[in-house]
Amino acid sequence: MSYIARRAFSTSRTNLSKVTVLGANGGIGQPLSLLLKLNKDVTQLSLYDLRGAPGVAADVSHIPTNSTVVGHLPEENGIKAALEGSEIVLIPAGVPRKPGMTRDDLFSINASIVRDLAKAVAEYAPKAFVAVISNPVNSTVPIVAEVFKSKGVYDPKRLFGVTTLDVIRAERFISEIKKTDPTAESVTVVGGHSGHTIVPLLSQSNHPEISGDVLDKLIHRIQFGGDEVVQAKNGAGSATLSMAQAGSRFASSLLKAIKGEKNIVEPTFVESPLFKEEGIDFFSSKVTLGPNGVEEIHGLGPLNKYEENLIEVAKVDLAKNIQKGVDFVKQNP
Ligand code: NAI
Repeated sequence: MSYIARRAFSTSRTNLSKVTVLGANGGIGQPLSLLLKLNKDVTQLSLYDLRGAPGVAADVSHIPTNSTVVGHLPEENGIKAALEGSEIVLIPAGVPRKPGMTRDDLFSINASIVRDLAKAVAEYAPKAFVAVISNPVNSTVPIVAEVFKSKGVYDPKRLFGVTTLDVIRAERFISEIKKTDPTAESVTVVGGHSGHTIVPLLSQSNHPEISGDVLDKLIHRIQFGGDEVVQAKNGAGSATLSMAQAGSRFASSLLKAIKGEKNIVEPTFVESPLFKEEGIDFFSSKVTLGPNGVEEIHGLGPLNKYEENLIEVAKVDLAKNIQKGVDFVKQNP
């Protein structure tokens, strides 16, 4: 390919990088929008919310990076303009937890929010890569899948539940115990994104020797780390800043993969063959991302007995959470 052709190709590719945030005025949406504004692979940042999105857009638009930013509200079908031409849609719209709530307690409100936003994505950005942050992720991802199926636009390679926060927590928490550099840690976390469905595979980490009480406590902290934030915020919400970092990391990996960078691997909750025979259609594991989204879903690798038990426990809740999402769309199309 000639220099000019290469340039033309890379320019047109870059021009396609419109990223939309649905729920951009929220606790996650605002810092996520900030981090996306700093991402050089984003050329158009499209911020949508029921309220406040134009303000967030005006604010971050003053940062001198190479992207345009537009805020949209529901009036005058703002969601159409927010979504049209979008390559990646991130969805952090919905209510967060308060102390004492589980992620499943959010279902009654967030299920319909996510269903309605999924309908809009199906209509205005049917080819977009969709990353769902709204909880309960174990159910909201199947909700989006069901909506997309009903509209004839479902591509399992393009739908992701964002579980990156569990990974960054695991890497941080293990480094605190081992007094290591957290950026040098790598922990695989599989399963789902709530309580016992979160399964860290510490035998595959840099510290497979961790055992006994220390192991039990560490696993519990990774599974229920979100509760620490919910309690500390004391009614004012759940993780937003660390979640924005996690969402931004996921979006950044997706953008690199779409542009053809190789060996981009992220853990994410996707339609997966791993436990399909047992009726569990979605599962989080390491996924190699490519220009078409999911390129390869990795197996779980060698597990010890302890981890096999954690997986068995996770599967029970996961099956219920997934079915709940599927049933919701069937009963409330
Ligand atoms: P928040 O209440 O601060 O913000 C939510 C935003 O969504 C608000 O600005 C609201 O106006 C907007 N919104 C609600 N319905 C909407 C609709 N139909 N269309 C567009 N925007 C809409 O909540 P926060 O803290 O930002 O959390 C958002 C979601 O992310 C919650 O469901 C929370 O549980 C989830 N979350 C997920 C995590 C993960 O690891 N996947 C981690 C932490 C939170």
